[in-house]
Amino acid sequence: MSIPRYTAVAVLFHWLIAVAIGSNFVLGLVMTDMAMSPAKLKYYSYHKWAGVTIFLLVLLRILWRLFHRPPELPAHMKTWERALAGVSHLLLYAATLAVPLTGWLFSSAKGFKTVYFGKWPIPDLLDKNPLLADLLKEAHENLAFLMAALVVLHVAAALKHHFIDRDDILARMVPGLRPRTGG
Ligand code: HEM
Repeated sequence: MSIPRYTAVAVLFHWLIAVAIGSNFVLGLVMTDMAMSPAKLKYYSYHKWAGVTIFLLVLLRILWRLFHRPPELPAHMKTWERALAGVSHLLLYAATLAVPLTGWLFSSAKGFKTVYFGKWPIPDLLDKNPLLADLLKEAHENLAFLMAALVVLHVAAALKHHFIDRDDILARMVPGLRPRTGG
């Protein structure tokens, strides 16, 4: 008996976006602590076009999600657990859109173009506006840390399901992981 799993495309989106966001988060922290140098400017450029790529990937992922229902949650999960899972997934989707979007808006309001691979400039979302830029910078950085907190909760919940509840929640999203229920 095999267990219900996420589609291969949903699994690919999950891990690709997880690795990309983790890397861009670390790059964001490293680059802002650096002294002004050509390397710092290069990292800012990488951070920005990688962030826009993540934004587009998350949009595609949500589109796929709208047309491909996830597998049913295990029968043992209580109503509050199902509600918490639903709300935290919704907040994670919202955060993974809001963080790159506020970054892109901030960079636009600051008047700094985002240039793909250092070659292809992409449109700014706003005209230059120093006051708005300061607000958007705060929003970008605070949302990035809020998203990190949501991710920690998400991972803790997945590990609790696997090692404490001993159910198949983690195996549904990890290709090759043997299900707990002997599927
Ligand atoms: C999911 C994607 C993204 C993540 C996880 C992310 C995360 C971060 C983090 C953690 C910081 C450092 C915050 C701090 O030092 O307190 C940062 C800074 C920054 N981010 Fe992003 N970011 C993303 C996307 C973007 C995008 C799309 C842009 C612009 C197109 C952008 C532009 C910036 C800039 C310019 C800074 C530097 C702010 C400063 O000078 O202090 N980010 N980002």
